[in-house]
Amino acid sequence: MSVILSPSLLSANFANLEHDIRLVEQGGADWLHIDVMDGHFVPNITIGVPVVKSVRKITNLVLDVHLMIDNPQNFVQPFAKAGADLITFHYEAVENPEDIISLIHQEGLKAGISIKPNTMPEEIFPYLQDVDLVLVMTVEPGFGGQNFIHDCASKIPIIKENAPNGVIIQVDGGINNVTSKICTSLGANSLVAGSYIFESKNIVEACRLLVK
Ligand code: DX5
Ligand code: ZN
Repeated sequence: MSVILSPSLLSANFANLEHDIRLVEQGGADWLHIDVMDGHFVPNITIGVPVVKSVRKITNLVLDVHLMIDNPQNFVQPFAKAGADLITFHYEAVENPEDIISLIHQEGLKAGISIKPNTMPEEIFPYLQDVDLVLVMTVEPGFGGQNFIHDCASKIPIIKENAPNGVIIQVDGGINNVTSKICTSLGANSLVAGSYIFESKNIVEACRLLVK
């Protein structure tokens, strides 16, 4: 099973994103993971629509937008218009997951649902038929560079057994050359990694090591 690598731009050099994007392209990245935070759903603020719009102009990588925001439904159209290919929202941030999943699909994008470390995988079973991706957070969302929470990885096989074939299972948080193997052996097939890649001396090689 091939693994989709989605480097998280959060740990890239914001003064020269293009430089870092070219390196992950060389390293074989398939997607670019873009972390959007609002200071409400998580205690941090990061980047928004204009960055996605600019990045869209310089790369053909799939733009994987991870919304860690309240009221994510309000931002589906702006991010779709800016060039996102996939929008993942947090289950904990919405009242009706079906509504935002439909909205994302109406825009012609793939839809992902994400759960924080304290959310049980069973809570999202009703939506597994409708989504394209499930993002299992392996740290509390909000910051790059945190340690992988091993207990979260046990959710991967539970989701895999209950999701239709073809639903991508992505992990995000504390992914490095060791934790990536734990996750893929349990059934994850998309890896998000920020600090492991962008804080490495050799970004190209770090990408290759993750999917090897
Ligand atoms: C954290 C973000 C992650 C973050 C991962 O809330 O969702 O995508 O960039 O960073 P690392 O790989 O450093 O844990
Ligand atoms: Zn993320």
